[in-house]
Amino acid sequence: MLCSTVIGVLLGCLAPAAALSRSVPTSFVLVGDSTTANGTILNSGGWGNGFCGSTNITALTPSSLVKDTPCINTAKNGATTGSFVADGSWDIAVAAIQAEVARGRRTLVTLQFGHNDMKIAPPESMGANLTIMIDQIRSLGAEPVLVTSLTRRNFFDNGTIQDALAPWADETILISQQQQTHLLDLHAHSITYVEAIGPDAAHRLNRSPDDNTHLNENGTIVFGRMVADLFRASFPGELPIISNPGLSFNISHGIPSY
Ligand SMILES: *[C@@H]1O[C@H](CO)[C@@H](O)[C@H](O)[C@H]1NC(C)=O
Ligand SMILES: *[C@@H]1O[C@H](CO)[C@@H](O)[C@H](O)[C@H]1NC(C)=O
Ligand SMILES: *[C@@H]1O[C@H](CO)[C@@H](O)[C@H](O)[C@H]1NC(C)=O
Ligand SMILES: *[C@@H]1O[C@H](CO)[C@@H](O)[C@H](O)[C@H]1NC(C)=O
Ligand SMILES: *[C@@H]1O[C@H](CO)[C@@H](O)[C@H](O)[C@H]1NC(C)=O
Ligand SMILES: *[C@@H]1O[C@H](CO)[C@@H](O)[C@H](O)[C@H]1NC(C)=O
Repeated sequence: MLCSTVIGVLLGCLAPAAALSRSVPTSFVLVGDSTTANGTILNSGGWGNGFCGSTNITALTPSSLVKDTPCINTAKNGATTGSFVADGSWDIAVAAIQAEVARGRRTLVTLQFGHNDMKIAPPESMGANLTIMIDQIRSLGAEPVLVTSLTRRNFFDNGTIQDALAPWADETILISQQQQTHLLDLHAHSITYVEAIGPDAAHRLNRSPDDNTHLNENGTIVFGRMVADLFRASFPGELPIISNPGLSFNISHGIPSY
């Protein structure tokens, strides 16, 4: 960018906008169910580790975040929006949010529910609970970011996804519009990707062969990067997210990486 003039200085283009805004220290707090949660055992494993980076990941995994960016994954296996509050997980998330805000950091809080809410109540129940969480996040001085559910990897014979989560994804989108939050449509993007790579490649990302819900290490790397790329698209130039051009290319072009 050419910024050698006085006008350039006035426009603040001495440094690229992205570099300027990256100087805003940012933290992430993740709230959700097992498809976000840390998980190294059977019946667990979400995108959070791939997004945050984790010392437990043994595969080649560049974190999605600039080194030392706080990324606190409070997501809980089996959680609904209701159980997350009732079992004290929300209090843990709130404490993490308060701590990051108190350090003067811009604090982004992802909310992704649906996989278990769908087993107990209509979408509106989750939506009402999300609205309460959004209000509380804002009252703490942090920013809510709604995330639609990671798809399950159950396919029809014709190669399309059996999508039982759609009404809960739609409810999440509706609440994000009503409450004017950022939205990461992981549900739509993950369906597009797994339909493109097909069942065999999609199932290689399973925690165990028959577990079409949870992710192994390769799966958390892929979907953690997908979330990182959705963050970048929603907050252009603002976040401490590092690039992984090869993996991003594969994801956006429907190519299996593993
Ligand atoms: C999940 O892992 C992250 C580091 O990757 C850590 O900060 C966080 O406390 C862990 N959360 C749980 C619930 O174990
Ligand atoms: C790493 O894995 C160990 C053993 O599986 C577990 O106790 C620990 O909580 C994990 N740490 C993180 C940050 O996920
Ligand atoms: C929403 O929260 C209420 C408690 O406030 C609970 O009764 C309800 O089951 C929750 N809904 C879901 C889908 O978890
Ligand atoms: C694929 O099969 C399912 C189940 O039979 C059907 O509902 C869906 O419309 C089909 N999709 C396409 C694109 O053929
Ligand atoms: C992208 O996909 C190709 C083909 O499957 C694979 O060889 C390569 O390792 C992938 N790149 C990344 C960064 O995952
Ligand atoms: C992850 O991908 C690598 C490279 O393709 C492969 O060697 C490894 O077995 C995969 N891990 C799992 C758990 O499938």
